[in-house]
Amino acid sequence: MPATGLRILGLMSGTSADGIDAALLDFAPEGPGMLLGHWHFPYPASLQSEIFQVQETRDLDRVARLDRILGKLHGQAAATVLQETGKADCVAMHGQTVFHRPSGPDGYTLQIGCAADVALAASCTVIHDFRRADVAAGGQGAPLVPPYHQACFARDLPVWILNLGGIANITWVPPKASIYPLQAFDTGPGNVLLDAAASLLSGGKLRMDADGSWALRGQINRKVLASWLEMDFFRQPPPKSTGREQFQGAMVQDLWQGWKGGADDFLATLTALTAESVAHGAREWTPGASRMLVFGGGAKNLSLLRALQEALPGIPVEVGEHSHAIPGQALEAMAFSWLGGQCLLGKALDLASVTGQKQPVVLGHILPGPDWADLHGRIRAMQAGMGRS
Ligand SMILES: Nc1ncnc2c1ncn2[C@@H]1O[C@H](COP(=O)(O)OP(=O)(O)OP(=O)(O)O)[C@@H](O)[C@H]1O
Ligand SMILES: [Mg+2]
Repeated sequence: MPATGLRILGLMSGTSADGIDAALLDFAPEGPGMLLGHWHFPYPASLQSEIFQVQETRDLDRVARLDRILGKLHGQAAATVLQETGKADCVAMHGQTVFHRPSGPDGYTLQIGCAADVALAASCTVIHDFRRADVAAGGQGAPLVPPYHQACFARDLPVWILNLGGIANITWVPPKASIYPLQAFDTGPGNVLLDAAASLLSGGKLRMDADGSWALRGQINRKVLASWLEMDFFRQPPPKSTGREQFQGAMVQDLWQGWKGGADDFLATLTALTAESVAHGAREWTPGASRMLVFGGGAKNLSLLRALQEALPGIPVEVGEHSHAIPGQALEAMAFSWLGGQCLLGKALDLASVTGQKQPVVLGHILPGPDWADLHGRIRAMQAGMGRS
């Protein structure tokens, strides 16, 4: 089905807590839809550090306050985009993950950013809280973007889509006639350890190893790398997801304390750890692919790209935005626009082969805006059209 004329603004703030990525999508239920524009609204360093701190202190009062602060910032971001582009039919926001421990009978995942603040600022319907329905259905609540990867990249040959956010997640998109289902999981760290190391080693001056230039000056310590790759998470089979509970600054401090070399080599070895854990997950837990397309902020890290290519000999590792007309940092926000559309249609997504959920569920909560009656009417008409086709 082609684009519907339903304009959905996706807002994504990932585990790096670097800011809000926004993508305005003309939604299509079966295909990827059409990207109408994308924006980035960076967080100040003080806000990023507050987000990281509440994840450690777990202070409820600070979490509740942050929920309002982030809600208003998401609202401002939406209002800014809508001022520039005109009306959107709804906003689909991911929110900021602060706690993610989805396994076990009382597993949980929590994304904050008060949706009521966004609805007020954008004056439209807001869809939010996408992950909890999947956790309630026995899933990991992550990753949720793979069905959108499938909508964008299903071809004749299998392909890996790698998202290098704070955490790295990989999707194996089956070829169109495949008997295997879509597969995806978190492979472990994306940029999270590299950002923490850049900050630690620069005495707080740097927030990232820009372009990977620092790591490029170092040598990989293969022996230490092999010991780091023994971490339990890498050996665990999917479904699996992770977050800053497992991979964060404290881990980097521990590794640095046990390190016997210089800063350049440390960063080079951490970069190799990130790449090797991705390659290990891809080879070990998926049927194999003929190429890898890389998206997310980590696609700008040349050292990480080089390490990935070395870890996957014979498989072309390509920056997705170079080979496809999809801006690398917009893809996750586009995916949440699309997931918002599926929610409006009441479509339950089958993520059993991805998150391990026990039954398909509709993802997202709808907060109706002033235009809800009109929007609801359009959705009903769309559903009637889909029923006929
Ligand atoms: N020029 C660059 N060089 C190296 N790394 C970069 C560069 N630009 C961005 N990054 C990395 O990308 C990160 C942000 O990427 P991104 O927004 O995809 O991650 P995220 O917010 O954690 O998203 P998600 O968890 O949804 O995937 C930054 O924290 C930084 O580590
Ligand atoms: Mg980000």
